[in-house]
Amino acid sequence: MNQKIFIKTFGCQMNEYDSNRIYDSVKKIGFQKTEKYEEANCYLLNTCHIRDKAKEKVYHEIGRVKKIFRSKQKPLVIIAGCVAQAENQEMLKREPYIDLVIGPQSYHKINDTILNHIEKKKKIEETEFDAISKFDYLNKINNDSGKISSFLTIQEGCDKFCHFCVVPYTRGPEYSRPLEQILDEAKYLADNGAQEIVLLGQNVNAYSYEQNKLSNLIFEIEKIPQIKRIRYTTSHPKDMSDDLIKVYKSSKKLMPLVHLPVQSGSNKILERMNRKHTISEYHKIFDKLKDINPNIEFSSDFIIGYPGEEEEDFQATFELINKIKFINSFSFIFSPRPGTVAADLELIDKKISMERLEIIQNQLFENQINMNKSLENKTINVLVENLTDDKTQVFGRSEYMTSVIFNGKKEDIGKILPVRIIKSNRSTLFGEIINNSNQKVA
Ligand code: SAM
Ligand code: SF4
Ligand code: F3S
Repeated sequence: MNQKIFIKTFGCQMNEYDSNRIYDSVKKIGFQKTEKYEEANCYLLNTCHIRDKAKEKVYHEIGRVKKIFRSKQKPLVIIAGCVAQAENQEMLKREPYIDLVIGPQSYHKINDTILNHIEKKKKIEETEFDAISKFDYLNKINNDSGKISSFLTIQEGCDKFCHFCVVPYTRGPEYSRPLEQILDEAKYLADNGAQEIVLLGQNVNAYSYEQNKLSNLIFEIEKIPQIKRIRYTTSHPKDMSDDLIKVYKSSKKLMPLVHLPVQSGSNKILERMNRKHTISEYHKIFDKLKDINPNIEFSSDFIIGYPGEEEEDFQATFELINKIKFINSFSFIFSPRPGTVAADLELIDKKISMERLEIIQNQLFENQINMNKSLENKTINVLVENLTDDKTQVFGRSEYMTSVIFNGKKEDIGKILPVRIIKSNRSTLFGEIINNSNQKVA
């Protein structure tokens, strides 16, 4: 077969990882990637179900594909990801243009499902939870994403059941991949140019395989010489164990940005969300980490306007943001998700939620601006990831994941370079390369 596949991805980094792995798989049956819709014989949409309008977004996308292919041969249309898992058969019924529906734990079946469809023209839905077979299969196929900063999923699913969240239903129960499997994949990525590994999981710090926890895994990955930086996301405060906190003392490669979603600054709301931790426990984690390394910064996710959120709960979130000085964070208005406990709770006034969101976002932006400003005239280490779109400069990331643009060359890609920051805005630092290696780095 000589076919072209167009893959569009919504949602989190795990979906991005999955899309890369799906491509690694379908290459084996003759598909090549295309960035142009019109060229595709196969259109795959990897979907996200985390907030409202997720379903509508999918049907809207399909409407677009239909239009593009109106006077051409219809492509094979595959819906993957969390909406596929949640809606399964319903999607085939509602939209006959869809040929295959395949959930996140069934990607090991993707090649057979496609070949089967091509042969028999039968619509197929695969939405079983089978993480073991999925990763056993993916382990036999090289991860060819070939990026300087590469994602590596180590854990899938969630047993926490926060009352607002669909993930336990779309990704199934927690599953941790065998350590050797992960190390093989990390070594392969390193041999193919990866300098940074971002370990992924819906509950990445709940990783547990035989005697191994996330802390052991980080040490093992640290031994791979080509890997210069290690990150992990997303973690839950309840699984922020002391052994993991201590890694920040001993590891030379673990980056000092801790993404630890807190969702709300109010204990009342945390309890209603079923988050299983309190604000004082969150502060304890923060204090322990800051004691170990004062340069550590925190980022978080916030849900604003959760049912029952009163002005004092909102103020508690605002105060927490000011205390912790979160950077690089995300905030969303609560979105009721079908099938979750919070879906049946009484919503608060939309206008109030929107006003509160604006206040929170402005505060988070201000933190970010201040952090970026504080780096002006300082020299920081930047891992160079690529040329900028106009190819005149290079793009990289600071240790805190902030984008940095400076006057580097193509040969700098993959290197960690000292860059003097000249100016900044909320999202980006602009700098110039420092040639003197004795320069002190901030
Ligand atoms: N496992 C992570 C944790 O425990 O924080 C979060 C994973 S979830 C994919 C990413 C973020 O989406 C959450 O941290 C939360 O802020 C947001 N989110 C999830 N469900 C939501 C909902 N129903 N409405 C608004 N935001 C939501
Ligand atoms: Fe969702 Fe994270 Fe809660 Fe799991 S721990 S239910 S993924 S928010
Ligand atoms: Fe979305 Fe599924 Fe990720 S719901 S955020 S794609 S786990």
